[in-house]
Amino acid sequence: MPHAPDDATTWRGLWGETADVLDDRTAARWLCETASATFGDEFLSILDDPPTVRMVRRLDEMVARHRTGEPLQYVLGHWSFRRLDLAIDRRVLIPRPETEVVAGAALEFAAAVGPTRTVVDLGTGSGAIGLALADELPIVGTTVWLTDASADALDVARANLAGIGRCAQNVRIAAGSWFDALPPDLRADVIVSNPPYVADGSTDLAASVAEWEPADALLGGADGLDDIRVIVAGASDHLRPDGALVIEIGADQGAAVRRLLTDADYGDIEIRPDLAGRDRIAVARRPR
Ligand SMILES: C[S@@+](CC[C@H](N)C(=O)[O-])C[C@H]1O[C@@H](n2cnc3c(N)ncnc32)[C@H](O)[C@@H]1O
Repeated sequence: MPHAPDDATTWRGLWGETADVLDDRTAARWLCETASATFGDEFLSILDDPPTVRMVRRLDEMVARHRTGEPLQYVLGHWSFRRLDLAIDRRVLIPRPETEVVAGAALEFAAAVGPTRTVVDLGTGSGAIGLALADELPIVGTTVWLTDASADALDVARANLAGIGRCAQNVRIAAGSWFDALPPDLRADVIVSNPPYVADGSTDLAASVAEWEPADALLGGADGLDDIRVIVAGASDHLRPDGALVIEIGADQGAAVRRLLTDADYGDIEIRPDLAGRDRIAVARRPR
């Protein structure tokens, strides 16, 4: 990698060199886009332009971080989630594609309610699910609550809230453990959560996840179900009659979560697959 650009250095050259170093042309392009503060076609239009010294230094730093194993998303400092481009760093979980499907399920329930709707995203992290819902639901009549026990995570969610435009007026942020964060009399049409659900000591986690992502966002007790149990037990007190609970679960937790929901008297219980066909989303309704 060059450390000082000469007159002949162009973004086309830097992209190629970065792709060779990382053996990944797509990652190299995203890093070059971020270093050059361009995006998509804008980057393609500057391929024959020279970078500034500062841009090359930024690219060098990002490539070095990624080569130590830091996930690309943290190195870039942003990642897309549905229609949003979210700021992210090590204070929050990297938003996943399967969680976009979870947000889609919550959106389906929330969009069917009217003329007003209240949605709660418990354990919001970067704000991914709740902010996507605020962005995609009608501006008029929508209220979305984002909660987290981590003050650091809520700082990131707040930064992302500032970036979503007019619909930000519909969003409330509250700190605290699960339902403790909410006003006691709040009744929602939809409660959605991607809680920690990996079993403590699990060897299934990729090294990059275990080493870089916050443990508090991942680990859910001996069987991974501790937080899901709290959410299933508490949600009926905060849902309107017929309100929907939508929870992201581990691929091997479908039967156990169905049992928890059945034992707590929820109705219309479904365990839905993610994009890869694995059990990943539990949905249920509070009995009328
Ligand atoms: C799996 S991450 C999900 C983050 C984000 N919703 C997403 O889908 O990308 C779980 C989140 O739950 C939060 N969390 C963990 N324990 C919590 C608790 N007791 N109460 C509220 N939030 C909690 C973590 O801080 C983390 O942000």
